[in-house]
Amino acid sequence: MAMVYVTRRMHFNAAHRLHSDALTEDENAQTYGACNNPMGHGHNYELEITVKGTPDPVTGMVIDLKDLKDLVQHVIIDKIDHKHLNYDVDFMRGIVPTAENIVVALWQQLRDKIPAGELYELKLFETPRNIAYYRGE
Ligand code: NI
Repeated sequence: MAMVYVTRRMHFNAAHRLHSDALTEDENAQTYGACNNPMGHGHNYELEITVKGTPDPVTGMVIDLKDLKDLVQHVIIDKIDHKHLNYDVDFMRGIVPTAENIVVALWQQLRDKIPAGELYELKLFETPRNIAYYRGE
C-alpha cells in the first residue's frame, strides 16, 4: 500500500512577547532582543498540517482535506487567531511562545483528533524565513 502525505496550509495572526520567567530582565532583553519588548508584537503565521496514510480504495483520499481544514479551524485557529499568545490562549499559558514551543503545543491539541490517517508533521512559519516543524518526537 502506498504511504502518502497530504498537507493543508492554514493561516492565523497572533501577538506574542518572548520572555522567560526563569531569566532576569537583563537576560531576557539580551536573549530575545526586540522580541522582548513589553507590549509584544504580531506575526502572520502560516501552519502546514501534514497527515500520512494510505489512500482509501473507494474515495482515493488519505483524509478529506475539507474535514482537516474544519478540524484545524475549530481546534486551533478559532482559539489563537487575533489573540495574544502570552495571555489569551489556555493551552499556551506558562509557555514562552517561541515558534518551537507553539508548534509543539499545537501538535498536542491536534494529535488525537485526526479522523483519518495519522498526524505526521506540523510546520509553523513565523515569518517566511523563520520556520519550526515538529513530528511528535
Ligand atoms: Ni515574534
